[in-house]
Amino acid sequence: MDKANANGETVNELVKAQAHVWNHIFSFINSMSLKCAVDLGIPDIIHNHGKPMTVSELVAALPTLNPTKARNVYRLMRILVHSGFFAQQKLSHGVQEDGYVLTNASRLLLKDNPLSVTPFLKVMLNPIITKPWDILGNWFQNNDCTPFDTAHGKTFWDYAGYDPKLGHFFNEGMASDARLVGSVLIDKCKGSFEGLDSLVDVGGGTGTLAKAIADAFPHSECTVFDLPPVVAGLQDSGNLKYVGGDMFEDVPVADAVLLKWILHDWNDDECVKILKRCKEAISEQEKGVVIKKKVMIVDMVVMEKKKVNDESFNLMETQLFFDMLMMVLQTGRERREEEWVKLFFAAGFTNYKITPILGLRSLIEVFP
Ligand SMILES: C[S@@+](CC[C@H](N)C(=O)[O-])C[C@H]1O[C@@H](n2cnc3c(N)ncnc32)[C@H](O)[C@@H]1O
Repeated sequence: MDKANANGETVNELVKAQAHVWNHIFSFINSMSLKCAVDLGIPDIIHNHGKPMTVSELVAALPTLNPTKARNVYRLMRILVHSGFFAQQKLSHGVQEDGYVLTNASRLLLKDNPLSVTPFLKVMLNPIITKPWDILGNWFQNNDCTPFDTAHGKTFWDYAGYDPKLGHFFNEGMASDARLVGSVLIDKCKGSFEGLDSLVDVGGGTGTLAKAIADAFPHSECTVFDLPPVVAGLQDSGNLKYVGGDMFEDVPVADAVLLKWILHDWNDDECVKILKRCKEAISEQEKGVVIKKKVMIVDMVVMEKKKVNDESFNLMETQLFFDMLMMVLQTGRERREEEWVKLFFAAGFTNYKITPILGLRSLIEVFP
């Protein structure tokens, strides 16, 4: 049996604890290795190869690889196989060597995949966004609103307006997510959109989601409402139009208001203000006709700790990552169901329905 130290820990427990700490010290290596593979175009190169690709074929196909680094490619691939981004398959019968193939996760990183997550990866791992993490401890000791403010001297939204390159990357990242969410919503939640004469996507960015809804429901007038610089120059077409403004002041009138990835950016008081503006926007009734008007939120409902099992452990961890992200970039947070409900009632809504249709996120319909 292991001897216990002064704290009563056995050697076995001690080295296990050390391994746990090391794993967390170096967790960023997962993100950075993935970013490196995307920067080098590895998912597309393997995809275009059309069959399992050996490491030497991969080295030969990397257009900008410095020859002195060739021996390191397999090390990058080894960790990415470990983390589930690539798999290895036998080349053919009788051949011993393995070749790399894509997994579902790396297929989502392909440039031409309309649902590609690459723009989101690129913006979230941009040094402007990762810098605030470095000074998180300082922020806990100062008066700044967010760590992003501490790192850059401005709010995230002001920075996105001031640095058009970041603003562009951010809007691209959002649009890539909106494509994925749009395809799921239209496929699985069709009934929630049917019968709506009009819909306004508040904070709808450059309109990817609203455009998908406008195309799928041609009888619905869809409006993208966002800050004036975001919608400047975007052209109305068919049943889709763009309106610039501030959701804290006024929201265009519609049968339904969509808030995708909006409320998690803001603190509770700010959310209640936004929700009140949304309630006003859906409260105007025409000729006494009452349609089932609503606010449709796409956001996370954080899992209850007691319901988390081995299978959902990673999902819960990702929700907690997002909650920390909202603390670092914005004044927001990810919320549990009871936290959502408090906001809805504080803004004057009386009923809600949660449909957990989007993996980590849900469609939450809120009714006056
Ligand atoms: C996290 S992004 C979500 C974009 C889009 N809904 C999506 O999920 O793809 C938040 C959006 O809110 C917009 N926004 C921020 N402050 C706003 C305000 N005061 N009024 C209107 N839109 C605002 C931003 O410009 C940005 O497009």
